[in-house]
Amino acid sequence: MSSSAVDVTEHRLLEHVARLGDEHPPIDLASVDFTVRRPEAVRERFGTVLDYMARAELEVERNVLELATLLPDPPEVDRVFYTDVWGPQEARHGLILDELQVRIGRPPATTDLTTVSTRLRVLGALAHLEPIQDVVRMLYYLTGMSTERSALLAYHRLHDGLSELGEAAVTDTIITPIRRQEPGHYAFYQLSARRHWAALARWQRWLVRRLRALSFAPVGAGTPEQKADVGDMMLGLGLGSPGAAAAFAEQVARVERELLFARDRGVRVPPYIAAAFRDAVIAAEARAA
Ligand SMILES: [Fe+2]
Ligand SMILES: [Fe+2]
Repeated sequence: MSSSAVDVTEHRLLEHVARLGDEHPPIDLASVDFTVRRPEAVRERFGTVLDYMARAELEVERNVLELATLLPDPPEVDRVFYTDVWGPQEARHGLILDELQVRIGRPPATTDLTTVSTRLRVLGALAHLEPIQDVVRMLYYLTGMSTERSALLAYHRLHDGLSELGEAAVTDTIITPIRRQEPGHYAFYQLSARRHWAALARWQRWLVRRLRALSFAPVGAGTPEQKADVGDMMLGLGLGSPGAAAAFAEQVARVERELLFARDRGVRVPPYIAAAFRDAVIAAEARAA
């Protein structure tokens, strides 16, 4: 890639982040209507979904700490994105969803906002070496892409489900405004991932593939218990059958497959992503039984 092509993309990224910040301030709490017509029905059908989404959104507070550990010397555009734009938007999503689940009679989400794991600290220490930081940054963009894509798909289904239940206040003043903010996050990670991948050396790409396969987990699924929560979310959204889970994984991983498995046309879904979502459903079913 010529240096001018890189500059254009960097300029686009900076513009994108500035525009997201201007056009999407955190959702104003005064605009939210928590009216739920049938709390039991919503609790029954989407209680576990709300709990998982609330926790994943609230835990961005910890993700920001993790990023500071992982990327000791981040490009300015990344730092601005996660501290000034992404972090505050997601934290507000979490706050609103958690309040919603409390209003329908559920306990608030149990979150971990402060623990940065040893694994991440080790990676962060290695990332003081610039070529390794480049690898870690690629992992960060891939994680961002898969997380935002799965959030988008999940909110889409949650929106339809709540509409079916006739919960207009919640769909119009909570789910729709949240959904409007997620595509900009996804676009940031996708632009960053494509640009960064193009700049990596062969050995760095190899290492990214290895580390990604070793470490992939859906967002907020660090423990076996939390993995089952992901499965519950999928079951709640009608994504529990093997076919639906596979289609979900395929959509979540589309660009990752395109980049990391460009030469491997037989791979429709990176196997570690397909397995992680399938296993999450199995874990949820085992826990329920
Ligand atoms: Fe969000
Ligand atoms: Fe997001």
